[in-house]
Amino acid sequence: ERIYTEQYRPQFHFSPPEKWMNDPNGLVYNQGIYHLFYQYYPEDIVWGPMHWGHATSKDLMHWEHKPIALYPDEHGLIFSGSAVVDKNNTSGFAKSGETPLVAIFTYHLMEDEKAGSNDFQTQGIAYSLDNGDTWTKYEGNPVIGNEGIRDFRDPKVFWHEESQQWILTLVAGDHAKFYASKNLKEWKHLSDFGKTQGAHGGVWECPDLFPLSVEGSNEQKWVLIISINPGAPNGGSGTQYFIGDFDGEKFTSDQIEPKWVDYGTDNYAGVTYNNTPNGKRIFIGWMSNWDYARDTPTQKWRSAMTLPRELSLHKVAEDYRLKSYPVKQSEALVSMVLAENVLVEPHASDTLRIDGLNQSQLELKTVSKDFTLIFKNDMGETLELTLDAKSEAFILNRMKSGKVDFQPEFGNKKHFMPVALTETEIFDIKILLDWSSIELFIDGGIYVMTDQVFPNEPYNSLIIQNESGTSEIRLQSIKHMESAW
Ligand code: FRU
Repeated sequence: ERIYTEQYRPQFHFSPPEKWMNDPNGLVYNQGIYHLFYQYYPEDIVWGPMHWGHATSKDLMHWEHKPIALYPDEHGLIFSGSAVVDKNNTSGFAKSGETPLVAIFTYHLMEDEKAGSNDFQTQGIAYSLDNGDTWTKYEGNPVIGNEGIRDFRDPKVFWHEESQQWILTLVAGDHAKFYASKNLKEWKHLSDFGKTQGAHGGVWECPDLFPLSVEGSNEQKWVLIISINPGAPNGGSGTQYFIGDFDGEKFTSDQIEPKWVDYGTDNYAGVTYNNTPNGKRIFIGWMSNWDYARDTPTQKWRSAMTLPRELSLHKVAEDYRLKSYPVKQSEALVSMVLAENVLVEPHASDTLRIDGLNQSQLELKTVSKDFTLIFKNDMGETLELTLDAKSEAFILNRMKSGKVDFQPEFGNKKHFMPVALTETEIFDIKILLDWSSIELFIDGGIYVMTDQVFPNEPYNSLIIQNESGTSEIRLQSIKHMESAW
C-alpha cells in the first residue's frame, strides 16, 4: 500500500515526511548504511532555524526516516556540512573501541545576536558512537572560529591518505579555503582557491573536493565542486566544477571558465558520499532553486533530492568532463514495460498514450539531432524537450507544464543546455520522470538537466516529433518506476 499519495509527492526520490528541507548534508557510508542528513526546519514548510534531519538507506533508493540528528545550540543554527568515519579514532571520541562518525558543520548566528559584527559563521563538530543514531556535540566548539569573514561555511572533510591528515574545504564568499587536521579538532589553514576562476555571479556554497581517475587511463585528477547562488546558466542556483590537482596543500587548476554539473534549474548544493564501497563517487543534490524554493505548490513538505548519481571523469577532445548518471541501484526500481521499440522516421511524428508516464524511465537512441518530445496531460499542459541542431542546444520548456505562476522565475523562460553535436553519431538519452520532477541524461550523463514540474494532472501522453529530414529516432522503452516508499 502507498504511503505517499499527496499531489506532487516524489515516488522514487527522497523527500522529508513533512516540512522544509534544503541541502543534503553529512553524506557518509558506514557499516552497510548510507546516511543522508539534510538541512531541515521542522516547524514550517519555508526555510527557518536549521537542524540536520536524518534518513538512512541500504541501497540509496529506499529510505528510512530517522529522528532529527542535530539541533541548534548556543553557538547557532546548524548549517550545511559533511560527515566522516573516523576509523583510527584520531578524534579520541571513542572510548571503548567504537568507530566514531564525526559530523563537521557550520554554526550560524543570526546577525543581530552579535550586533555590529559580521563574525557569525563558525565551524563545529559532533560525534556519534552508534552509527548515527545519537549525536553529541564537541564541548570545544567551534573548532574553526571566524576572523570577520562573511559567508564562511559548508565544510566538507575527507581523509587524505598521502599526507595522513584530514582535509577540510569550505567557502568564504567568492573563494574556497582548505584546512588540515590530524584530529578533526585543531585545524590549520593551508591555502585558498578561486577568486579569479569560474563563475562569480553569486556567493560560493557547498564545496566538495575529491580525486577521480580519468576513464580509460591511469591519470588521476582532482575535482572541486562549488555551488553558486545566484549565477547559474539558467538563473538562480547552480553547481559548477573545476578539474585540477591537489598536492595536500593547494588545489590548482588552469580552468578559467566554469563547467556545470547540471544545466537544469533544480540541482543545487550537491555533494558526494564519503567512504563508499568500491570507492564509488556518489552525488546527491537538492532538487530546487533558491529563486522559488519557498513557493513551490506543495503543502505538507517542501522539496526533494535528486536521484543519487555516480560521477566519473572523462577526457573529451583534450578537455576533462564530469559525467553524472543515476546509480545502478536505480535499475532495481525499473519494472513493467509501458512502451517499447517505437521508431519515428524522418519528418514523422508519433503520439503514445501512456498511463503511468509520470512515474517512469524512458530510453531513446537518436540519430536525428532535431526533435521535440512533448509530455502532455488531458488538460493540455505540456513539458517540452527539444534538441535543436541549428543552435546546438537542448531546450527544456516548462512554461506551460502545469502550475508555474507561484513565482515569476519558475515559468518565465526556457532552459538551455549547449551540446556539441559533432561529438557523437547517435545520442543515448535517459529520462526519469517522477510526480514533480524530470531528470535528463544524455550519453551517459555528459549532459544533464534536472527540473521540477508541477502538472495539475499527471502527464499521460508522449508526442515524439522528428524534425530531421534524414535521420530517425528510436524510443527503446518506457518503463514504470516502482514506488520506493
Ligand atoms: C545552500 C546554503 C548553504 C547553507 C545552507 C543553509 O543552499 O545556503 O550555504 O549552509 O544552505 O540552510
